[in-house]
Amino acid sequence: MSIVRVGGRRIELVAGDITVQQVDAIVTAANSGLQGGGGVDGAVHAAAGPQLLAACRAIGGCDTGSAVMTPAFALARRGVRSVIHAVGPIWRGGDADEDRLLASAYRVSLTLADEAKLASVAFPSISTGVYGFPVARAAPVALATAKAFLARDARCLERVVFVLFDAGSFETFVRAAGQAFGSR
Ligand code: APR
Repeated sequence: MSIVRVGGRRIELVAGDITVQQVDAIVTAANSGLQGGGGVDGAVHAAAGPQLLAACRAIGGCDTGSAVMTPAFALARRGVRSVIHAVGPIWRGGDADEDRLLASAYRVSLTLADEAKLASVAFPSISTGVYGFPVARAAPVALATAKAFLARDARCLERVVFVLFDAGSFETFVRAAGQAFGSR
């Protein structure tokens, strides 16, 4: 695990599966139709149970660069209170506003967690799977957005955990944190 301290708050980088994290909210990388999918979204829906998809259908959709919150259903057994469905951009080569939309998906998710008075939230690496966003470019965006939020905007949120599923993504996030913040 790697830790970045932001005042009394912290960003943690861990390798593993987001569905087993001990946090108040888990973020999933959704599509704008909130229709469920593979990757991390498949894992989160499987862990939360079919009520999660029903809740997504009731909401109907979510813009790219935004996020919506639902209960965590079966994940409540692990102490998770909410699932945040964040819609990152599909990579289109890098000149289609992808960085801003990715930062926005993180920022809206952080805002939803904070407004719900949650203290901890776990993120996957949004957009860097099926959506094709290069992880070396996404990691600094994700980390800078979390750090800025914790430093300036957070009222309740104390812990932001990035859960990286594959070793390459974990190493890339750790390197990006080292370059941006001098963390170890
Ligand atoms: N825990 C943490 N991270 C995971 C897990 C897991 N259990 N499973 C996969 N990941 C990682 C992937 O390895 C990748 O690094 O999540 C990251 C994001 O990949 P995707 O899930 O493909 O998300 P994204 O690129 O944002 O694409 C979203 O895929 O599943 C569909 O409905 C989803 O259409 C949407 C699209």
